[in-house]
Amino acid sequence: MGKDSLTVTDNRTGKSYELPIEDGTIRGMDLRQIKTGPEDFGLMSYDPAFMNTASCKSRISFIDGDKGILRYRGYPIEQLAERSTYLETAYLLVKGELPKPSHLAAFTTNITHHTIIHENIKLFIDGFHYDAHPMGILVSTVGALSTFYPEAKKIFDPESRRIQTHRLIAKMPTMAAFAYRHSIGMPYAYPDNDLSYTGNFLNMLFKMTELKYQPNPALERALDVLFILHADHEQNCSTNAMRSVGSSQVDPYSATAAATAALYGPLHGGANEAVIRMLMEIGSVDRIPDYITRVKAGEVRLMGFGHRVYKNYDPRAKIIKEVADEVFEVTGRSALLDIALELERIALADDYFISHKLYPNVDFYSGIIYQAMGFPMDMFPVLFAIPRTAGWVAQWSEMLLDEDQKIARPRQIYLGPDERDYVPVSERGD
Ligand code: ACO
Repeated sequence: MGKDSLTVTDNRTGKSYELPIEDGTIRGMDLRQIKTGPEDFGLMSYDPAFMNTASCKSRISFIDGDKGILRYRGYPIEQLAERSTYLETAYLLVKGELPKPSHLAAFTTNITHHTIIHENIKLFIDGFHYDAHPMGILVSTVGALSTFYPEAKKIFDPESRRIQTHRLIAKMPTMAAFAYRHSIGMPYAYPDNDLSYTGNFLNMLFKMTELKYQPNPALERALDVLFILHADHEQNCSTNAMRSVGSSQVDPYSATAAATAALYGPLHGGANEAVIRMLMEIGSVDRIPDYITRVKAGEVRLMGFGHRVYKNYDPRAKIIKEVADEVFEVTGRSALLDIALELERIALADDYFISHKLYPNVDFYSGIIYQAMGFPMDMFPVLFAIPRTAGWVAQWSEMLLDEDQKIARPRQIYLGPDERDYVPVSERGD
């Protein structure tokens, strides 16, 4: 075994440098010593979209994209999905270890008792246009929470961080459900503390005139599993937004608004909606081969397939397929599921998809399940934002306590004009 270092030779000067390698990385700042002369700023690396740049050291989630592995704090996602609950998984993410029974009970009580939102938030939601997208409402209301809890700006006070973490995990479903009820012109349904986290969310969404809403246990558990699967996914776009905005030391509600906004984008939280639209466009199993031909010709993409990190079956997609069976036993089978299953069968046997390492991702089946459960497509990114909040706050706390971190501030390569003199508008001609 050689030395843990990298020797580079700058061919502009002929000088050699030895850069230490730690955890399979070199430090970007070590490149700055590589200069052509005293006036030179030093070498930088150019990496748009952070394709090969680690922005942090983290102990929260681990992905091996080639092997199709996802673990939270070391625990395989398959075990958590089968045996844990969303709130226990949220505890694991934010605290670092699985809770002892009394700690889980206290955490559950804390979350349950923070689900109510201030009545003024309701007035705020009332102000949105009748057809406002629930994700737009969620971005605004979560950001507005910072004005209701000004003490949240004490981000280095562990007790304040603990309370804001509870509030965020507890209030996201309430704001999301109220946003949905507003968008369909229904009165708000208040939280029911007797119900589980997901049972209560279903209550706030779907309660009609009955005195007590009873969630279907199979759908409640299915949603809980989907929430576990979406709770964290290392440095994705919205988590990076949470860390980056949080690095300015703003309060966590404002940082969560930024993360939620990132998730609103079609390339991040919107892919499962695109899958539904694609399956509807295909329309029937016999039209799948034509669609595959169009995909291979580069005319369209097979939505719900492929991933920046996973070059194998997304482990979450495997679990979701099993959840789909349980949900369809209650709701009845969706015609879209038959198209999806056949599409997957054909794609996985096709050379194009095999050679490009394209496998179903988490979004391929999640939209079909959400649709069968009665959620409109506008709610799909909201259903992602609620469980991801635990991951966001876990990552935010980790970033705050990491001595290596500072305010996020990338460099740039300036390619604009060199210095030039201002010319008054009257002298510029037309
Ligand atoms: N259908 C057909 N071909 C595809 C697909 C797809 N879904 N995804 C990638 N490819 C092909 C590309 O055409 C390209 O082929 P080429 O090398 O012959 O030109 C090759 O695979 C690599 O594609 P990239 O776009 O460079 O891969 P990247 O890692 O940047 O993209 C992404 C990943 C965006 C997820 C892509 O696979 C995609 O668009 N998938 C469909 C959308 C989707 O399902 N998104 C959800 C992702 S999961 C999540 O966000 C929670």
